[in-house]
Amino acid sequence: NYYAILMAGGIGSRFWPVSTREFPKQFHDMLGSGETLIQKTFSRLSQIIPKENILILTHESYNDLILEQLPMVKQDQIVLEPAMRNTAPCILYASLKIKKLNPNAVMVVAPSDHWIEDEMQFVANLQRSFDLCEREETLMTLGILPTSPNTGYGYIEFDKLDSRSIKKVVQFREKPDFKTARRFIQSRNYLWNAGIFIWSVRSILKAFEEFQPEMFTLFMEGYEAYNSDKESAFIQENYPNADNISIDYAIMENAKNVYVLPATFDWNDLGTWGSLHEKLPKDDNNNAVVNANVLLQNASNNIIRTALGKQVIVDGLDDYIIVDKDSILLIYPKSKEQEIKAIVSQLKS
Ligand code: GDD
Ligand code: MG
Repeated sequence: NYYAILMAGGIGSRFWPVSTREFPKQFHDMLGSGETLIQKTFSRLSQIIPKENILILTHESYNDLILEQLPMVKQDQIVLEPAMRNTAPCILYASLKIKKLNPNAVMVVAPSDHWIEDEMQFVANLQRSFDLCEREETLMTLGILPTSPNTGYGYIEFDKLDSRSIKKVVQFREKPDFKTARRFIQSRNYLWNAGIFIWSVRSILKAFEEFQPEMFTLFMEGYEAYNSDKESAFIQENYPNADNISIDYAIMENAKNVYVLPATFDWNDLGTWGSLHEKLPKDDNNNAVVNANVLLQNASNNIIRTALGKQVIVDGLDDYIIVDKDSILLIYPKSKEQEIKAIVSQLKS
C-alpha cells in the first residue's frame, strides 16, 4: 500500500544562476557526490517504497531530463503538468490517480532537492509515520529542530504537553516574517517543516475537499479519465485553471488533524547558497570554494563557485555569495539571499 510522490517541478530560483528554469537544481549534482539530487532522493525512497509506486511530478518540459537521470522509471510514473502551479494542484491530481490504483494507499510527498544524511533513520521515520497514517486520519509532517529564524521555511508549533514522539500540531505557519520567526525560535516549541508529508490518500483528499473545494471539484471532473488515454487531454485543458498555491498554504495552515514527528536524521534543504555553504568543505576562514582557483585575503564565510579552474582574487570581503556562470556574475550578501528569488523574476520581466 506504500506510494510516493516525488516533487520535481520547482525551479530553485534562490539558487540562481546555477539553478535555472531550463535546468533546475534537482537535476544538478550540487555537492559533487557523483549523483544528482533527484537520483539520490529516488534511491532513498526506494528503500521503503516499491520503485513502481514512486510517481514523479514535474512540469512537462522536464520529462526528458527525468527519463535520462532515472532510467528505471517508466513513462506512466511521470506525472506531467502543462503549467507551473506550485505544489497543491499537482499533489491533488496525483492523489486522485493513486486513489484509482489503490484506495487504501498511504503515501509520502517528498521534495526531490534536499540533502538527507542517515538513510536508516529516514526510513525508520517514514515507517513510523506510515503506521500512524494507516490507523488514523492524520496529516503528518517531519519536523526539524530549528537553528536560526530562517524565513524560507514553514514553522510548526507543537503541543508542549504532548509527550509522545509524534506530536499534535497546534499551528502551521508557512514562511513567517523575520520578527515572527525569531519569536517562534525563542519560544522553543516550534520545528521547521521539512516539506516531507505523510498521509493516506483518503485523508489528503478529504482535506482538499474541505479546504480547497474549487480545486477539488476541478480535478474530480477528470477522475474517470485518469490513468487512461483520455487523461492527457483533460489535464492539458484544465490543469492551467488551478490556483497557483503551495500545499503549505492550501492545506497545512488550515487542517486541524496535523501531527509532527521530529526527524532523527540530518537534514538540509539546500534551498539557498547559504545552506549549500553549510554542507560544502571549507577553508580555515570558512570559505567554500567550488571549481575556482582562489587567492583570498581578509575574506571569510564566502561561497565562491565558478567554471572549473577560473582564477578568482578576493580581498576584504566577508559573508558573500560569488557565483560566475556563463554570461552571469552574481555578487550578493548571504544575509539577503532570500531576495534572489524576487530579483530573478524581476530580471525575467
Ligand atoms: N511537480 C511540481 N510542480 N513540483 C514543484 C512545483 C510544481 O509546480 N513547485 C515546487 N515544486 C517542488 C520543488 O522542486 C521542491 O522539491 C518542492 O516542490 C518544494 O518546493 P519549494 O519551492 O522548494 O518550496 P519551499 O522550499 O519554498 O518551501 C517548502 O519546503 C520547505 C523546506 O524545504 C515548504 O514546504 C516549507 O514549509 C518547508 O519548510
Ligand atoms: Mg525548497
